[in-house]
Amino acid sequence: MELVAPDWEILHRLRNRFLNASGSVGLYWESANDLVQYHQYFASRIGWKWDAAISQAKQVDWQLQSSQILDWGCGTGIATLRILEAFGTDKVTEVILWDHSIAATSFAQKTLQEKYPNLKVTFVNDLSSINLADTLCLASHVLNELSLTDRESLNRLFSQSQQVFWVEPGSYDSSRLLLEQREELLPHFNPIAPCICALPCPMKEEANTIHWCHYFAKPPIVAFTEAHWAQFSKVMEIDLRSLPYSFIVMDSLKLKSRQLTAGKSRVLGRPRQYKGYTRIYSCDENGHNDYELWKREDKTLWKTIKKNKSGTLYEWTRIDSGKILAGKIVEGALESLKIQWEP
Ligand SMILES: C[S@@+](CC[C@H](N)C(=O)[O-])C[C@H]1O[C@@H](n2cnc3c(N)ncnc32)[C@H](O)[C@@H]1O
Repeated sequence: MELVAPDWEILHRLRNRFLNASGSVGLYWESANDLVQYHQYFASRIGWKWDAAISQAKQVDWQLQSSQILDWGCGTGIATLRILEAFGTDKVTEVILWDHSIAATSFAQKTLQEKYPNLKVTFVNDLSSINLADTLCLASHVLNELSLTDRESLNRLFSQSQQVFWVEPGSYDSSRLLLEQREELLPHFNPIAPCICALPCPMKEEANTIHWCHYFAKPPIVAFTEAHWAQFSKVMEIDLRSLPYSFIVMDSLKLKSRQLTAGKSRVLGRPRQYKGYTRIYSCDENGHNDYELWKREDKTLWKTIKKNKSGTLYEWTRIDSGKILAGKIVEGALESLKIQWEP
């Protein structure tokens, strides 16, 4: 897509909308130009978050296994664009776009068809008539625009599907809203990423209410080399290095994907360094654990973890009484680290 000149009035108006959204916000795309501006800047940044979340899902070898994609609250279609870029279109027979703004679905349809002329891209007026049994449902940056009733009905809809990939901003509120959705979807799905554990999330426990599950994407080099991004960052006062996101990837129980996460552990947050050892907070099959790793036990692992970025996957091969005695970084995790960032 060709670069268009920034329209600061539109960009500021949209940003204020997004930042202040809390519950049903109604329609807000005022013109086609709103969508063009959104797509060039905000959706691109969201796309960088999708790339990072997808790389985390790929660490456990998550695959697109559905022939239909439903992009709910599609906006300009960035979620579908990033998924298709990562997994290709071979498996996909149809993309269904849903947004309460017809301007948005039309824009997304045109954008997707320009990029994938042979792909069937449709939008519907009534989602209740669609069979979601062989569908990957996508949602991105929508939760703070929905009422509780909307969020509940969205979960009822998604629970009929085969796979769910959902990315939200990494703010406390959005991450916590996503956690609520996860808990409700749990009876129907296996969480694949970032969760290792398929139990109610320990983040819900009283002692963890100050925490929230979030990660940081690394912006691509163009964010720092292209003039329009420098200007965007300056005028909008947005630090392009900061790309926090929360996400959840889930497969229907019938896909039997539990083995993807078996034996793996995802390190949450920054490991804490002490004299001779490191403390590591880890999401494991049995919930969250706070481990010690002594330098003398496994020097290679200790050195790797010192450079850890939040969300990296490991396998602990020997653990005793809360101490990691041996382990290794999961193959593929190093690749994924290149697009993760530690602030
Ligand atoms: C912040 S935009 C995100 C768009 C896109 N998913 C992305 O990540 O770039 C939120 C989108 O959700 C849509 N939306 C908000 N409430 C909705 C609802 N109740 N039903 C359908 N779409 C809704 C808006 O029209 C808008 O396109």
